[in-house]
Amino acid sequence: MVTVLDLGSTKAVCLAAEPDGAGGLEVRGLAVADCKGLRRGIVNDLEETASAIETVVRRVQKETGEEIQGLVVSIGGTHVEGINAQGFVPIYPKSRAIQREDVLQVINHSRQLMLQPDREQIQAMPREFRIDGQRGIKHPIGMNGSKLEVVTYIVTGQTTHIQNIEKAVGMAGKRIEHMVLQPLGSGLGVLTEEEMELGVAVVDIGGGTTDVGVFSGGSIAYSATIPVAGLLVTSDLSKLLKTTPEEAERLKLECGNTNPKAVSDTESVSVMQLGQTQLRPLQRRVLVEIIESRMRELAMMVKQQIEKSGMVGMLPGGIVLTGGGSLLPGADKLFSDILKLGRVRIGEPSIQGPHSSTLNQAGMATVVGLAQFAVQFADDELAPAESGNWKERIRTIWSALGGKQA
Ligand SMILES: Nc1ncnc2c1ncn2[C@@H]1O[C@H](COP(=O)(O)OP(=O)(O)OP(=O)(O)O)[C@@H](O)[C@H]1O
Ligand SMILES: [Mg+2]
Repeated sequence: MVTVLDLGSTKAVCLAAEPDGAGGLEVRGLAVADCKGLRRGIVNDLEETASAIETVVRRVQKETGEEIQGLVVSIGGTHVEGINAQGFVPIYPKSRAIQREDVLQVINHSRQLMLQPDREQIQAMPREFRIDGQRGIKHPIGMNGSKLEVVTYIVTGQTTHIQNIEKAVGMAGKRIEHMVLQPLGSGLGVLTEEEMELGVAVVDIGGGTTDVGVFSGGSIAYSATIPVAGLLVTSDLSKLLKTTPEEAERLKLECGNTNPKAVSDTESVSVMQLGQTQLRPLQRRVLVEIIESRMRELAMMVKQQIEKSGMVGMLPGGIVLTGGGSLLPGADKLFSDILKLGRVRIGEPSIQGPHSSTLNQAGMATVVGLAQFAVQFADDELAPAESGNWKERIRTIWSALGGKQA
């Protein structure tokens, strides 16, 4: 059984699951709690974050009847960056069969990066191996060759922000097994294997951040975090319509839309403004124009990121929008008009069995993908066998070969 934790800007979610034997997940336990301890992916209230973690973990333990040991935890925020790095090793004697040690060594070679002293590596995922120039190899162990190369997607983050997540999890009495990049989680949660193979971008519009992940050849190739998402739409409404944030959120959920043309001039909504005691009528179109303007800006920022990825023209799978913020009616059409990258669909997880109605919602993409990742990783031929601290585990490969951490 794997247990994962998604720390979002609006909620903490804990999910316990097992592989169902057919490539899917069998859910054993789920809990969701409001959490305002993170701002745009960064912990800004340790107590609040720890208490939300404690709540969801306790509920999942109760449901599964098992004490949770380690957690696979999501990490996001603009401080998190991913890069593609390359490594190679010669194979001696020439043309012998490649062994697990060779593969670990080539991955470690790709991980020898110079990082700023305040940053560290969080994940290192081999995307593709090449043997004697032959590309696109996923499982090199056992194949013969003289030169092994790898392209690894390396995720780094700022040490202090990583430590604060560790601290919050520690305060809740648990330890971290792995940290997983949020856009990777969102992608694994809602994309099909075919889409990831052909080329696709996932855009998770959350509360505090919008995560962009570009996938190709079955793995993540580019990721970025944009500090604009649902909470900003709500705060725009609250400022411009002079309401409380709660009233603005209600208006957004009940009457929101991203297309002013879909709303007639005569439609009105009732708004409780600050300092007023009675509801006042407001043209619904005004509300929709405010939403559209922020969502349009977001779509332009996503467009820039996809251009930056260098993968425009390599995305036959199009764009998959997910996250709670993608549920604003018309968001798919708006993104489609601005990005001009073919098909745009809204993605939701498709889990069967217990808790499926809660899990199969756009806001649950990341947590479902984390569980998918955790189940696959437990099965990975390269995973280090030792347990212990997650940082030791990511370094295990390295130290087993007598090197020092990059
Ligand atoms: N039906 C809906 N229509 C419009 N917006 C919605 C809807 N449901 C949820 N949202 C918005 O989605 C946002 C929360 O999304 P989500 O649950 O994906 O965020 P999160 O994971 O907590 O945050 P983040 O991923 O940014 O850290 C909120 O801003 C909320 O207003
Ligand atoms: Mg999220």
